[in-house]
Amino acid sequence: MSAIDKFVNAVRDVFANTPDARAQARQISGHMKALLASPGLMQEIEQKGGGKPGRIDLHIDDKYGHPGPGFCLMTSLTPKGKSTGGARAHDHGASYVVYGVYKGAIEQTKYTWTYSSAGDWTAPELKPGDRFVQKQGEIAYFLPGEIHKTAAVGDDPPVVLRLEAQLLDRVARHTYDLESHQALSHR
Ligand SMILES: [Fe+2]
Repeated sequence: MSAIDKFVNAVRDVFANTPDARAQARQISGHMKALLASPGLMQEIEQKGGGKPGRIDLHIDDKYGHPGPGFCLMTSLTPKGKSTGGARAHDHGASYVVYGVYKGAIEQTKYTWTYSSAGDWTAPELKPGDRFVQKQGEIAYFLPGEIHKTAAVGDDPPVVLRLEAQLLDRVARHTYDLESHQALSHR
């Protein structure tokens, strides 16, 4: 059985037996750590992607997921020398995403709505919270409602695996403007 198939089976088992999203994400993190350490993984990724750059869906599942059926394991390959682009701050709606770094490194920054302490509770601003560099082999996840921004670190484009607990094109979510503090519907 391929490393990806083994991971997918373990994740399906987590969704089938664990109702708590936090517990799910913790268990999936452990399985993803094992996946990242699999010797033949890059070959499997390249096979699934047909040697082309861009988004590669490694598995799409219609039966399991959180909060409803439909999860996905994906990655994205960026050609060397090409910018990975700066992703906007975003959430994952009612779902969550587990990020595993296979090659390179990414900086992760979380944001929270901060309300004024001067008695005005109607003008919140987004403030950076936890910020960390996620290196090769390391896992981080973002639970329902969490806002984060990801940026590549270093010259070589990183390879990051993402387990989306719900196919995100089915999820209502937002992107955030960190200067104007706007929350905009993301499609
Ligand atoms: Fe994200």
